[in-house]
Amino acid sequence: MDLTELRLKVDKVTDSAISKVDWVNLPFGKVFTDHMLMMDFVDGCWQEPQILPFQSIPMHPAMSSIHYGQAIFEGLKAYRHNTEKVSIFRPDMNAKRFNESAKRMCMPQIPESAFIEMVRKIVEIDQAWVSEIKGYSLYIRPFMFATDHWVGIKPSETYKFMILLSPVASYYSELVRVKIEPYFTRAAKGGVGRAKAAGNYGASLYPAKFAQDQGYHQLVWTDASEHKYIEESGTMNILFIIDDVIITPTEDEDTILRGVTKRSILDLARYWGIQVEERKISVEEVINAAKNGRLQDAFGAGTAATLAQIALIGYEGTDYHLPPVETREISNKLKSYLSLLKIGQSEDIFGWNFPV
Ligand code: COI
Repeated sequence: MDLTELRLKVDKVTDSAISKVDWVNLPFGKVFTDHMLMMDFVDGCWQEPQILPFQSIPMHPAMSSIHYGQAIFEGLKAYRHNTEKVSIFRPDMNAKRFNESAKRMCMPQIPESAFIEMVRKIVEIDQAWVSEIKGYSLYIRPFMFATDHWVGIKPSETYKFMILLSPVASYYSELVRVKIEPYFTRAAKGGVGRAKAAGNYGASLYPAKFAQDQGYHQLVWTDASEHKYIEESGTMNILFIIDDVIITPTEDEDTILRGVTKRSILDLARYWGIQVEERKISVEEVINAAKNGRLQDAFGAGTAATLAQIALIGYEGTDYHLPPVETREISNKLKSYLSLLKIGQSEDIFGWNFPV
């Protein structure tokens, strides 16, 4: 099937599990909706996608992705505007990034229009799960993994593409405490840092645990060769405001994930006339700015966390505290505009909301 005209097989549940959800105590990514989407890649082409009741899937113990990590994912969200209307935030960006990740990991492409339609269709079916509670959304997790039954190492010939949906509240419930990492590395030049490859996240856990044991939420990753330049923070892109200028590491380096939330923040900031610099930013520049009171703000940007303001930055045993959050005019304005835009309560200047 070439997926130019997408046909989808749908098998719906008879009883929804939605009434069992504890919306007040909703952990991130542990509750799933009634349905999931599944599509196999066999004999060089994608087979008919199916939406079916959420269930476990059988797994061969030699399945190549669990041995060699040929696995990628995406994360995007759907939001409720009102009782009738739900929209998805910029799914075209995720479709594009998914294919970039697939290319780097030697995996098959999915036409962007088919990716978007599969996402739209499953959200439409489970739209009752998009909560209207403030700050809540439906996290959409498309992913692909190699399924050959073979422990020899070569690109798999078969793959599974799936989409899961999970209702979520805010990812961080408080301001984020981060620590600049002087030794460990998330990604090196020529590696897979730009791809949303499963292994990038697995490899980050051990260094992140050290930081968490010291009371931080996350690390700020630095470059692999000298640990002098800032790259990302945990699973988010990172942005700083020094002297009223938003500065964020350039995406020209293939060590940095091309974030949809970050791109939206930068587009919006430029539209509002705020100066933005996408360039190399050194640890020294950030720490000096913090020491002499010029570091006005620092925040992470990611789908799960949205815009997460940073409380303090730890470096070489000292914690540099950022100004009180009430004084952070730019990030407060960006955060508020973006969250209202996604629920249809501020003007969608760029046409980022994709209706379901
Ligand atoms: C996302 O923001 O979608 C992420 O990649 C974070 C996820 C690892 C929880």
